[in-house]
Amino acid sequence: MFRHVMCHIHAICLLVLQLKKHVVTIDGYKEVPPSKEDLLLQAVAQQPISVGICGSARAFQLYSQGIFDGPCPTSLDHAVLIVGYGSENGKDYWIVKNSWGERWGMKGYMHMHRNTGSSSGICGINMMASFPTKTSPNPPPSPGPGPTKCSAFTSCPEGSTCCCSWRALGFCLSWSCCELDNAVCCSDNRSCCPHDYPICDTARGRCLKGNGNFSSIEGIKRKQAFSKVPSWNGLLELLDQ
Ligand SMILES: *[C@@H]1O[C@H](CO)[C@@H](O)[C@H](O)[C@H]1NC(C)=O
Ligand SMILES: *[C@@H]1O[C@H](CO)[C@@H](O)[C@H](O)[C@H]1NC(C)=O
Repeated sequence: MFRHVMCHIHAICLLVLQLKKHVVTIDGYKEVPPSKEDLLLQAVAQQPISVGICGSARAFQLYSQGIFDGPCPTSLDHAVLIVGYGSENGKDYWIVKNSWGERWGMKGYMHMHRNTGSSSGICGINMMASFPTKTSPNPPPSPGPGPTKCSAFTSCPEGSTCCCSWRALGFCLSWSCCELDNAVCCSDNRSCCPHDYPICDTARGRCLKGNGNFSSIEGIKRKQAFSKVPSWNGLLELLDQ
């Protein structure tokens, strides 16, 4: 059961792992008694509830909009988050947040028929519900490594990489930031690649794995660095007017 809870705080956990520090903690979790839709509704009224469902039904996978009614079996093999509930033309539904990206369903969400008379619910949504509990405070924020310094006057946010966007006479006159640690700065002066996809394919705007592995991901756009003094970029803008 804990895995379902974990599944939905996954994004936070990843972030925590990435930063190697604890930002948010939970103290435990509680289960909603299975197939008791009235109790599930009470729980949802308090906070988002993690539920096990059957996510392998074709109708579920191809869902695009409206109130989902199945067909869908009740063999639980997926977990989603109920974030609310509603009614439309006398038909009750759960507001369900899936983890399949914004292109699935209604920008990543589904309305699933509620109050159907079946105790297990559509796709078994009433069968295994749980939510994290929290009473103790989060750990105090530990001072991070702080911003990444590019030069005496220029820096990038913590955890990002400085990239030089304009070099002349051996000096970097304009810095940009790649929002990744240990990133590779690409020679187009505009993009960067994560260190585990270190080869810039600037023509296609992609980052390659290399070493005979042809998998690639989309290149990342750099952002302007912070400067304590009027930056060259600013100066150029002034001259431009
Ligand atoms: C990137 O900047 C360097 C010098 O700062 C320049 O030599 C190079 O041509 C630039 N590349 C592109 C694609 O603009
Ligand atoms: C290529 O790298 C990806 C990501 O690390 C990995 O999942 C995949 O198995 C690799 N493919 C080969 C052929 O090594």
